[in-house]
Order: sequence, then C-alpha cells, then structure tokens
Amino acid sequence: MNGTETDLTEEIGRALGISLPAGEAAEWLKEYAEPYRELMTRYRCAMMEVETKFRVLNEELSLGDDRNPIETVKVRLKKPESIMKKLLRNGFPMTVESIEQNINDIAGVRVICSFSSDIYMLADSLLKQDDVLLLQKKDYIAEPKSNGYRSLHLIIATPIFLHNSKRLMKVEVQLRTLAMDMWASLEHKLRYKKNAESAAMAEELLACAEISAEIDRRMEKIRSDVAAAG
Ligand code: GTP
Ligand code: MG
Repeated sequence: MNGTETDLTEEIGRALGISLPAGEAAEWLKEYAEPYRELMTRYRCAMMEVETKFRVLNEELSLGDDRNPIETVKVRLKKPESIMKKLLRNGFPMTVESIEQNINDIAGVRVICSFSSDIYMLADSLLKQDDVLLLQKKDYIAEPKSNGYRSLHLIIATPIFLHNSKRLMKVEVQLRTLAMDMWASLEHKLRYKKNAESAAMAEELLACAEISAEIDRRMEKIRSDVAAAG
C-alpha cells in the first residue's frame, strides 16, 4: 500500500465520521454500501444504453454510406477511489445522493470516430433522440485546451427502465478522432510519469497536437474528395 491510499482512507474515515482500517475505503463502498452498489448498477445500465445507441447508429450509417463512422466505443465506470477523491476535492458531501447530484462523469462513454465530421454528425444524431437530454457541451475541437487537447464532451441525461421504475441518469460522452485519441492517450501517460513535466515537454506535446489536428484536416479533405468523386 502506498502513502496516498492511507491518506485517502483516513480522509474518507474522517469525512464519514467513522474509523476505517487502512486501505479499506474502497472496500467499504464496494462491499457494504448497498445504496452505492445500486447507484453504480444504474450508471452501468445507462452506460450500456448509450453504448447501444452509438452501436445502432454505426450499424445504420454503415448501410447508407458503406462505411462505419465509429472505430471503437469504450465505456468505463468511475472507480470508488476516484469518486471519493472528487467529492473531497470539491468539498461535496460524502453521501450516495451527493455522488448522483454532483458528479457528472460516473458513467463514461468514449466514441472514437474515423473523421472529424463524423464526431458532429454522431453527436447531432444522439442529441436528436427524444430520450436524450443535453445538460452540458464542451467543444474542445472548436476551442482546444491550451495544452492542445481536442475532443467533444457532452453530459447527457437518459432514462433507464427498471422493473418498476424509470430513472434519469447522467452520462459523460467523449467523441474524438483516432488522431485525437492517440494524442490524449499518450499525453495522459506522459503526464503521470513522475518528474517528467517541463515547459519543453508541454511545448512538444502542443506541437504534436497540432500535427495530429493537421492529419485530421487532411484525412477529412481526402474523404470529401473521394465522396465528391464517387
Ligand atoms: P474532470 O473533473 O477531470 O472530469 O474535468 P472537468 O469536469 O473539468 O471536465 P472536462 O470535460 O474538461 O474533462 C473531462 C475529461 O476529459 C477528463 O476526465 C479526461 O478524460 C478528458 N480530458 C480533459 N482534459 C484533458 C487533457 O488535457 N488531456 C487528456 N489526456 N484528457 C483530458
Ligand atoms: Mg472526468
């Protein structure tokens, strides 16, 4: 066990007003908190619903255009440790209700597209669906982050139908091209390498982000030329 885990457990214990054995914060949530488990199940269902929506769009669009606009769909449920850290970092209450109320990215769906125009086309198709409500949109493609990060982020609310109830759940959707995903994956890895951060590295990463955006633009141009020719 490392120091961070111990600290976190102590912090969570304090926030919950109980004494947790070292390293058992996550276990406490996973094993003993029934409402937490129920909430995570609902998020998992919502994630599956949204994943299916994209798979359906991909199937349908591959019929007309004879190509799949989606390369991959990845889903992830935020880990208990990350949820706790986010609550603590933002000063939100350490309750299950607070998780649902305050954290938008418990359920995450990442859609890797072939071309940048596919991103907006898929986002529009999703948002047109009558059981999808847009809560927040961040277009880091039109306005990339200062480090060069590009993606389209949507926070949506969508219903899940349980045996005797309907619940509206929040899902974070990230849409990006293969090039944007390559950059983001490597940047994420490099950022977490200890002592490696420097101004030179940041500058180099920004330059790489611009090269990858250039690749997207050129690929898009080839795609539209091919479409015009065909
Ligand atoms: P979080 O608290 O981290 O969720 O950020 P936020 O609420 O400000 O949301 P934002 O939409 O800006 O970013 C959410 C997610 O986008 C992150 O959890 C990452 O998955 C991704 N992301 C945002 N910025 C970067 C970045 O600079 N690099 C990489 N690799 N990913 C990023
Ligand atoms: Mg996040």
